[in-house]
Amino acid sequence: MTSDGRMRNTMFRKLPVERATGRQYGGRHRLRVVYRTRDLVVLGLGVMIGAGIFKISGVQAASTAGPAVILSFLIAGAVCLLVALAYAELSSVIPVAGSGYSFTYVAFGEVWAWVVGWALLLELLLAASVVARAWSLYAAQALADLSVPVPGWLAGMIGQPKGFDLFALGILLLLVVLLATGSRLGLRTLWFMVLAKLAVIGLVVGVGLTFFEPSNLTPFVPPARPADAGGGQSVLDALMGAVTGGSPQVFGIWGILAAAPAIAFAYIGFDLISTAAEETDDAPRKVPRGILTSLLIAVVLYVCVAVTMVGMVSYDSLDPARVVLATPFNIVGAGRMGAIVDVGAVIALTTVILVVLISLTRVLYSMGRDGLLPRGLAGMSRFKVPSRATLVAGTAAVVMSQTIDVFTLEQLVVIGTLFAFLFAPAAVLALRRERPDLHRPFRMPAAPLTAVATMLATGWLMLNLKVQTWGYFTVWMLAGLMIYLVYGRRRSEMRRLLDRPPPRRPVAAPMAAPPPDLVGLAGPPGPPGLPGPPGHPAPPMQLGRMGYPGPAPGPPFSPGGQGRPSAPAGPGGPRGQGGPGGQGDQGGPRGQGGPGGQGGQGGPPYGGRPARPRRPQPPEPPHQGGRHRR
Ligand code: ALA
Repeated sequence: MTSDGRMRNTMFRKLPVERATGRQYGGRHRLRVVYRTRDLVVLGLGVMIGAGIFKISGVQAASTAGPAVILSFLIAGAVCLLVALAYAELSSVIPVAGSGYSFTYVAFGEVWAWVVGWALLLELLLAASVVARAWSLYAAQALADLSVPVPGWLAGMIGQPKGFDLFALGILLLLVVLLATGSRLGLRTLWFMVLAKLAVIGLVVGVGLTFFEPSNLTPFVPPARPADAGGGQSVLDALMGAVTGGSPQVFGIWGILAAAPAIAFAYIGFDLISTAAEETDDAPRKVPRGILTSLLIAVVLYVCVAVTMVGMVSYDSLDPARVVLATPFNIVGAGRMGAIVDVGAVIALTTVILVVLISLTRVLYSMGRDGLLPRGLAGMSRFKVPSRATLVAGTAAVVMSQTIDVFTLEQLVVIGTLFAFLFAPAAVLALRRERPDLHRPFRMPAAPLTAVATMLATGWLMLNLKVQTWGYFTVWMLAGLMIYLVYGRRRSEMRRLLDRPPPRRPVAAPMAAPPPDLVGLAGPPGPPGLPGPPGHPAPPMQLGRMGYPGPAPGPPFSPGGQGRPSAPAGPGGPRGQGGPGGQGDQGGPRGQGGPGGQGGQGGPPYGGRPARPRRPQPPEPPHQGGRHRR
């Protein structure tokens, strides 16, 4: 094979779905099961209800859409719902921690998985930093609301939009320590805080509606007017300007659509639920339920808050640069509510950071497990959490939040997310075509129509992001591609499995004549030096057994292939996924595999520790529908 062809195979080969999910591969699932459906809903609400609800509705109403921001929330919610249906199907088929990264690995191959994973890292890292900064602003405001005295030396170090900020640093460190010491503590804390923020939002809507003034909703769609030149053009504006010669506008019908991508920030998080799949009991069913339930609740809450906000005060009395959820309460003279809202925001943003950090660590963990990032990231602590990934994620978020003016990069969170969203419906279609046999506890309804509509709608939202955001995103992705070419492509676990050189000693040696004294005792002779015991035929050496992708019947995964179970199954039993030997290429006598068998199933997942021998296990369908027990 030419070096080009070889590189292509390396870069585009796919992770077989059975390998991505199968417990039978010995230890890919090592995270502790902690989540039930309701925990997943809490995770989703924990991350979705944050800066979006406390800030975005006011900002977008005042700057872009007017009272029709309610429609913008519905439009963005509808697009996210479509994406969520795709995530739900993929999570039901591939319930693993890597979320969009792993889905793409299975559906489109390694290099695409890398770019999606890299985009997710941008989304999550920046989201953690941005929200930590916002947390500091709200916390400082809450202290002021509650008249808590702050010494002068401290006042300059908290509530700062950029530069060193003690609160942003403190909240990130606190949450990293919480996560690194075990998910249960994190989960309990999350439940408590999500319930508290839902109570605050209930109060906001309940009290706010008592100030509702229908005249504030007119005109519902304010007339279009030229956009402020300082805001930066969207790609769509630039394209339209080049074609029609017009200049960007806000409000009007276009304003409703233009506000939608910023609002997508508010819904970010339903996708992150799928990163919890390996920690969820009966994930193929519960993860889809968790994703869809939490998103629907979030859409209802966001729309209720938007209606309340634009109904309380006229949109043109709000300053887009300063408006927050407390603002209308201050305007109508309900200042006490303003203080409650600020405290609620501090709680809400805490849960956003918490869940974003959880997801960030799971994506790092998955990429480390696949060898595309250093394998150490897949290391587990005695608390059964990926502590190294947690520490790396936390450190990166701290550095980013303290050194970069992250508020100016907020849209990068959205573009990273939408980029990953594009791949989900495409992966649904690809897997339905290539692996119709897979059990799908949840199916995206009306696909492929809905899947195509999802891609178009997501693409549309991306076009509404600023040119500058696209520029930064391109730089980030190019840097990521370089890292992949230099590091990930060479260290990939898939590459190691497929490109492993043949064993020095031939595993299917030409048959030698048996020693004279064994003739008649030992059935068909084994390879030299490995005679079968007297009275038992020597087992023929199997290629699959040594973990080398030789010409075993039906190689279960070929470069770029999907790795269907091969037939016939060897002594490894009907589960045979083998080919490149599954895990533990040194399986030797432990190996269960025959051609297409397990190839040393008892071996360690990624080399290293010697494996304990395992008893043969009963046939098991590849994961779906079953409960993961650890
Ligand atoms: N959806 C999250 C928030 O609104 C990121 O803060």
